[in-house]
Amino acid sequence: MRYIVCIAAATLMAAALLTAQAPPAAPVKGKAKAKAAPAQSPASRPIPPTATPQTYPIAQVQTGSQRFVGQCGFCHGRDTTGGEGGPDLTRSEIVAADNRGDKLRPFLAAGRPDKGMPAFKLSNSDLTAIIAFIHDQKTKFEAVGGGRRDVEAADLASGNANEGKTYFTAQCARCHSATGDLAGIAGKFQGLALLQRLLYPTGRPAPARPKATITLASGQVVSGPLATDDEFSIAITDAAGVRQVFEKRDVKFSIDDPLSAHFDELAKYTDKDMHDVYAFLATLK
Ligand code: HEC
Ligand code: HEC
Repeated sequence: MRYIVCIAAATLMAAALLTAQAPPAAPVKGKAKAKAAPAQSPASRPIPPTATPQTYPIAQVQTGSQRFVGQCGFCHGRDTTGGEGGPDLTRSEIVAADNRGDKLRPFLAAGRPDKGMPAFKLSNSDLTAIIAFIHDQKTKFEAVGGGRRDVEAADLASGNANEGKTYFTAQCARCHSATGDLAGIAGKFQGLALLQRLLYPTGRPAPARPKATITLASGQVVSGPLATDDEFSIAITDAAGVRQVFEKRDVKFSIDDPLSAHFDELAKYTDKDMHDVYAFLATLK
């Protein structure tokens, strides 16, 4: 499952890269359809087309992305393409039929508790933002025809490596070095795989889990790998491997996610930045 999720995330970003050069319309889709995708993978099923194409302000999509990660990402994957037991929403018929929440609002209010999909009581603005984010993700995935896995390295390498280096020095060098940890990265990963590592390096090798530090009312501080994080409570796995749950209103907490910089970057990159940084990393053979 994890594998599919990270391929999908990379495909999404590849979509963003590819659409910078060509309109996100028919040619790519046609190509993906013509090629028979691997049969068993859910990622190989065609994405049901959106009945009513719709766009949303970027700020709303970004808010929605945060709300989605907090409320839905645990089950549906933080990029909506499926995760711990929740299906890929870019392939959902309900999402495909939805127009600005007309199907999703009643669905989310009722849930399908017997099938493991909880009912949600969300504020109107959070709900609108989540719906915006889901549609925005679906639009991006549709642009590459879903489970397309055959993105050519040459499709991606149209950026300017020098400008990518400048961007890297400004945005990435506090954590990475082109001659240190990332030396030889282009020898290990090419094309879509390299893009996926640079954008959102989940999967193998797995990065460290987020760590939560919680200060109790008594002043005692506990910390450990984050187990769950929702609107009202936060849980860690303690040193003995036991899950400890805290009500958020009773404690102060901070979450240190080693990959949060990457997740934040996803919303900030322009298509040009992505191309340039990719081109720069591709020189690190
Ligand atoms: C505890 C896990 C869990 C959480 C949290 C969760 N979901 Fe689900 N969701 C599921 C499961 C499981 C299904 C499949 C239900 C079924 O088989 O009918 C589902 C189904 C759905 C579907 C319908 C897919 C389809 O076409 O059948 C949508 C849409 C959806 N979820 C959206 C959301 C949104 C938006 C959130 C956050 C506000 C969310 N879910 C949170 C587990 C979850
Ligand atoms: C706040 C720290 C931080 C910043 C800033 C950051 N990264 Fe990362 N990056 C990480 C962590 C943590 C990992 C996962 C651990 C690992 O695999 O090395 C990672 C992994 C990677 C990997 C995969 C390395 C591998 O060996 O597979 C690449 C490529 C990468 N980052 C590129 C970038 C680029 C490009 C930028 C700037 C646009 C950037 N990172 C900004 C922390 C950061």
